[in-house]
Amino acid sequence: MAIRYLEEKKIFQLDTKRTTYLIGLTPEGYVGHIYYGGRLKGEGSNYLLRMGEAPYTPSVNLREKSSFLDFFSMEYPTGGVGDYRESCLNVRGEAGSIGCELLFTSYQIRKGKPSLEGLPASFGRDEEVETLELWCEDQVLNLRVALSYSVFADCDVITRNVRVENAGSEHLKLEKVYSACLDMDNRDFEMMTLPGSWARERSIQRGKLRFGKQLVSSTRGESSHQEHPFMALVTPETTQESGKVYAMNFVYSGNFIAQAELAQFGNVRMVMGIYPENFCWNLKPGDHFQAPECVLTYSDQGLGLMTRNFHDFYRGHLIRSPFLYGKRPVLINNWEATYFDFDSDKLLAIAREAKKAGIEMLVMDDGWFGKRNFDDSSLGDWTVNEEKLTSGLPDLVKKVNEMGMEFGIWFEPEMISPDSELYRKHPDWAIQIQGRRPTQCRAQYVLDLSRPEVVDYAYQCVADILHSAPIAYVKWDMNRQLCDIGSSYLDKDSQGELLHRYVLGVYEMQERLIREFPRLLLENCSGGGARFDPGMLYYSPQIWCSDDVDAIERLRIQEGTALIYPLATMGAHVGDCPNHVVGRNTPFETRGHVALAGSFGYELDITRISQEEREQIPGQVEMCHQYQPLMQKGDYYRLASWTMEKPYDCWEVAEKDGSQALVTFVQVLAQPNMHSRFIYLKGLLEDAVYSLEGTEEVYTGEELMKCGYLVPSEKGDFRSYLYHFIKR
Ligand code: DGJ
Repeated sequence: MAIRYLEEKKIFQLDTKRTTYLIGLTPEGYVGHIYYGGRLKGEGSNYLLRMGEAPYTPSVNLREKSSFLDFFSMEYPTGGVGDYRESCLNVRGEAGSIGCELLFTSYQIRKGKPSLEGLPASFGRDEEVETLELWCEDQVLNLRVALSYSVFADCDVITRNVRVENAGSEHLKLEKVYSACLDMDNRDFEMMTLPGSWARERSIQRGKLRFGKQLVSSTRGESSHQEHPFMALVTPETTQESGKVYAMNFVYSGNFIAQAELAQFGNVRMVMGIYPENFCWNLKPGDHFQAPECVLTYSDQGLGLMTRNFHDFYRGHLIRSPFLYGKRPVLINNWEATYFDFDSDKLLAIAREAKKAGIEMLVMDDGWFGKRNFDDSSLGDWTVNEEKLTSGLPDLVKKVNEMGMEFGIWFEPEMISPDSELYRKHPDWAIQIQGRRPTQCRAQYVLDLSRPEVVDYAYQCVADILHSAPIAYVKWDMNRQLCDIGSSYLDKDSQGELLHRYVLGVYEMQERLIREFPRLLLENCSGGGARFDPGMLYYSPQIWCSDDVDAIERLRIQEGTALIYPLATMGAHVGDCPNHVVGRNTPFETRGHVALAGSFGYELDITRISQEEREQIPGQVEMCHQYQPLMQKGDYYRLASWTMEKPYDCWEVAEKDGSQALVTFVQVLAQPNMHSRFIYLKGLLEDAVYSLEGTEEVYTGEELMKCGYLVPSEKGDFRSYLYHFIKR
């Protein structure tokens, strides 16, 4: 039983394999947070609610209600009534004032995990997950709020979401509705986040939590390159293996906030939800609003366990694609090979060479439609450019298929170019503020997906192309962020709904796509990795990680991404040299080893690379086939981090039963006058004996984990090594 209500104590106890979460009710009905941390053997107690401390609860001491609210640990604090820390819910009533106070009314515990209307959401079988719904009410507004907790015991994850219902007769306005809050006492916490930029997404940042509010957020209409909907609070001694870690990740692909606030009494409030700026949802009588899901995990064994909890959770309970553990084709994408300058002959030449090398799919990137010869036109006009694809798309696909390769295609369905037939016909379909000259970015505007006919049009364009030929893969791109938040479809009182409605429109299109084309391999992408978030993983098993495919830059990007997301979700390709973003030259072998950590492919002109490099491709394809199942299912361990501390980078993926492990070691810059270095493996069986593939070497699991494996020091920058240990 993962969830219990201890009736006498008025405590809800949520247990996972290694953690316990306690919620307590005060006599007046405030829903308080008691505890989140290591698993308790026994039952939680209510002394933990701290109701004995002055100024006592409001039922005992009404005159100090605000002092009580300003300190009490809340499960879901509301704004306007005396808790001055960050609130999670702000509701404006018809009188124009903001104020809301939630008191408990009832609860329900059930097996399984309900889906969330229109939103991505985790799932699980009845024997894997239990859900607690706590219903609360604000009696003045007649507002009903359900706080929902789903307990995934095996992966030490609790997910939360919130549903708000207007049961009264006033027209309410929801100005802020977060999805999760965690109140705790400070433990000298440090805050970890994943900031970045284009071509350098998700770098790990860690720093001491100071008084006041520290937040990361996106106001860009997507989760963004710049910030990431993730936050962890960690105790100072935290390493990969030790330390306490409280982490939150948001299953949403739009504006978000992740904030930690260190308040006056040394208490910390960590919140996550939709960013309130430019958000205002009308809640008319009878209406409801469903806030997205937030994933929480706690680890008292450092970051490594946090990572594996997230990986297991996303693989087991969020990603729906049949490709999750299925064989994924090794693909070659023509973007960096040709940019916009290609035609069917060029694509077929690439495909022919690729096929010879064992590559299994050709992906045709941007530039195949309308009159798109550069990035300044035709988005929205999804008709094949027959000057480039001279005999049409079906014929091109047929020829590629006849070579024994699959075919994939690029779309950017959410966009509209000012220079497009679509814009000339429907200028009102673009997001823009009336009377204001709209801001262009990459010479394009964003479609107003709050308008149902636009969602239908954009979806149908994609579907029609997919029906026209046997297309196995779609790369769904999104190359600009949102501004000029105005819709000519929504009325003036509903403009604050546009950003969320936009995200719902994206989800609706992708849901339709995977339902209509269940065997399609979908890869999300956003100008590199700007929409790499759990929301998108619900629709696609892989997401393009970054436009920077330089093997050394990718060490940092993939380390940050893999801190939360399973390796196989990261689109990772062997790129060209000098690298197009940083101009660096790295060995072809290293590029292959680094890309092997993700969903593997090529991003280069195979007809133009050197013979020596081309000859390495069949071996790399074989390597991918050999290790892909392990990379998809195994446990990931970060053994050394070039980004954080070491001169080299090293990670391991171990089969869950300890039967094999693959270690990747990248010597970033060669060090002069150096000896060999130990790396300490994880996840093996101490008593088992392991052979190192391709050698006569044999080790016990204990030796490899406790004493370490010796990596020789070699000359040469950017060199990498793979070590595959197999249990005998
Ligand atoms: C951004 C993507 O990340 C690239 O891989 C490429 O598809 C371009 N867009 C095409 O415009």
